[in-house]
Amino acid sequence: YNWSTMKQKYSIIIDCDPGIDDSFALVYGHLSNSFDIKAVFSVAGNVPIEMTTLNSEFILSELNLNVPLYRGAEGPIVGEPIIAKYAHGSNGLGGYQFEPNLKVHANTKNPTDAYYELLKSFDEPVIIAAIGPLTNLAKLFMAYPDVNQYIKAIYVMGGGIVKGNYTASAEFNIAADPLAAQIVINSGVKQYYEPLDTTTAYGFNRDFMMKLKDSKHPTSQLLFKIIDAKEKLDVNPNAVYYLHDLITLIAINHPEWFDFIDVHIAVELHGVHTTGMTIFDLRGERAQKPNAIYVAHPKFSEIQKHVLEVLV
Ligand code: RIB
Ligand code: CA
Repeated sequence: YNWSTMKQKYSIIIDCDPGIDDSFALVYGHLSNSFDIKAVFSVAGNVPIEMTTLNSEFILSELNLNVPLYRGAEGPIVGEPIIAKYAHGSNGLGGYQFEPNLKVHANTKNPTDAYYELLKSFDEPVIIAAIGPLTNLAKLFMAYPDVNQYIKAIYVMGGGIVKGNYTASAEFNIAADPLAAQIVINSGVKQYYEPLDTTTAYGFNRDFMMKLKDSKHPTSQLLFKIIDAKEKLDVNPNAVYYLHDLITLIAINHPEWFDFIDVHIAVELHGVHTTGMTIFDLRGERAQKPNAIYVAHPKFSEIQKHVLEVLV
């Protein structure tokens, strides 16, 4: 319970591939005091599973957040892993170097079984923030079809209506495992999608990042060091960074800053130029029956003001 906001905390599991913006989401999630983070799962994504897992151990150690961390899928259900070095640097944290003597260590038991046992152990369904490729969740639905009852909702950072980023048509998290995304959509679990249209509507600029440098929170100062390692902010004053995963988390505890639109989403699995593309059917009454909720139109000035209140 959060006594300052007099609000019930959101019980969440974070499924992530740190990743610079994943790191912002984890730090925000903890410092915001709005979430009861029950567990974290890593997944291969921005960088290979060894690095996304090590980065998760590092961020959780720096947060002194002693929650279960599980090492997740090493690649997509079918096909080979892809990575996003262009966006997160060679080690996934912008090249920021840290000591590997970490307090938090990932559990390497089967992540699918771990997910199911964990979800069943809670006294009420929990929210899953899926801010990396959806492989872990797809495997969970395939192995345990009755798992839906233990999941309150899934908030997915994924997809793109107007354009992609990994390719012109596909957003990275979906492109990394399109089949997994289709399986999650078909699961029927209540799911909210934040596509690039929402997460890149506005970027966080150098001034925002410089405020983190002087934060009273050491973990916010760490976020500055990570982003600076990637963006070299002193020589790059016009840098603008899209914190896709951070925006995704904020839609959970501040829905008032977004619009929620029922939508049918399909995933292109076999396109010559469009594999991994998400098709949001926004045709109104002629659209196919909705299977998801599009989280749209972020109120960025309120979001940015709030993030600074939490992180600085
Ligand atoms: O396309 C943006 C998404 O891909 C974000 O989750 C980022 O961390 C990368 O995983
Ligand atoms: Ca991510």
